[in-house]
Amino acid sequence: MNNRQMQLVMQMGAGYGLDQGAWRMPGADPAALTDMDLYVEFARIAERGKIQMVFIADAPVLNADISFQPPTYPLEPLLALTAIARATERIGLVATVSTTFNHPYNVARQLKALDILSHGRAGWNAVTTSTALAALNFGEEVPDRRERYERAHEFIQLVEALWGSWGEDALVLDQTTGIFANMDKIKPIHLSGKYLSSRGPLPIPPSEQGQPVIFQAGGGNEGLDLAGKYASGVYANPYDIPGAKAYRQMVRSRAQRFGRNPDDIKILPGLIPSIASTEREALNRRKQLDQYLADLEGRVSYLGAMIGIPLSYRDIDQPIPGELLRHAHMTQDPRSERVLQLALKGLTVRDILAHGVINYHPVITGTPEQVADFMEEWFLAEACDGFAIQPDISFDGVAVFVDEVVPILQKRGLFHQEYEGATLREHMGVPYKYGR
Ligand SMILES: Cc1cc2nc3c(=O)[nH]c(=O)nc-3n(C[C@H](O)[C@H](O)[C@H](O)COP(=O)(O)O)c2cc1C
Repeated sequence: MNNRQMQLVMQMGAGYGLDQGAWRMPGADPAALTDMDLYVEFARIAERGKIQMVFIADAPVLNADISFQPPTYPLEPLLALTAIARATERIGLVATVSTTFNHPYNVARQLKALDILSHGRAGWNAVTTSTALAALNFGEEVPDRRERYERAHEFIQLVEALWGSWGEDALVLDQTTGIFANMDKIKPIHLSGKYLSSRGPLPIPPSEQGQPVIFQAGGGNEGLDLAGKYASGVYANPYDIPGAKAYRQMVRSRAQRFGRNPDDIKILPGLIPSIASTEREALNRRKQLDQYLADLEGRVSYLGAMIGIPLSYRDIDQPIPGELLRHAHMTQDPRSERVLQLALKGLTVRDILAHGVINYHPVITGTPEQVADFMEEWFLAEACDGFAIQPDISFDGVAVFVDEVVPILQKRGLFHQEYEGATLREHMGVPYKYGR
């Protein structure tokens, strides 16, 4: 247990960073969403820091009014990662691809191609997209939950079977005899399920890591089954150590139930570092970001709802009055305890928001040491196997994390000094896998 080290993921965001307001920060390129050179630069910086993989979340949809904020998923991940693959050498490349709005043959083929052209660095985050607007893009409705997860099982099994449809030594390439491949070792899979079927085989051989590494994200009890059965990595969103520990334990026991070694599945909670040379400066950075939010007023009322009291934007620069605070309480929102703690300290509403209490993942507002301390505490508590880092602002946040946080983690023995091998599977220390 002592030589356990973290897995780190660098999330690519939409070119700007996690925060909605990041595109307006001084120094940010406002057109970053289509600037492939920038994505490549971030990946190269991450590679310089020996980060195990870059990761692109995705859903096939424009899911927000972008009058005042960038879209969440501008570039199709497999294409973006193909460009990144050609400009990097070691870092893993994980693409989110939906099991609800695709066909497994296309997905198996595309991911395998990424795995081959990157020499075994591809990963697939298999998600069961449930966005109604995404469904409409395919002329469909969102299937109910049961169907989405049944379909996801069939989908992943088909993809894995297609990946394994070539014997590992099927390619002969003998120019003298003229034998190109051994067709006895390249077989149709003939798999049919309730929703999906495919004959196969694929037209391409195995990669250096056999096949892409499977990841999973979210989805309650059904998601745990998917993760436990197929995933080597799980992208998660707990807010505190007890929640993270409980979730990790659930995933691990689910893996065990399916006959797997729980150490072969890495739980990677999202984390948003907001780094500056002092905590005060970091809070100011976040306040500036909040100022650029399309709907700061909405955030203030949401903050109130999180602790069961009405809050008004008018009072954003005041502490919450004691009289109102007396009625405040924890709600079902797991982040409400932190909001209450900060409110009871007498912070203004703006300062409470600056701590990132409403964000989708924990926000660490502070110095590189403070970020490293947070990560160390979670990791040593066995609340996770690493983190999916989402810098608040990419243009400086990726490099600051790599150049200032990574060395601290390395010095503490919590993060590797060098890539363990050439493939994503080797970086992650998960077993070779080929086919079903
Ligand atoms: C941390 C996390 C990240 C997720 N990332 C994505 C994503 O990039 N794309 C996507 O379509 N769904 C994503 N999901 C959604 C899940 O795949 C799932 O659909 C969602 O949790 C809704 O649950 P349900 O499918 O069980 O109804 C994510 C979920 C979590 C918890």
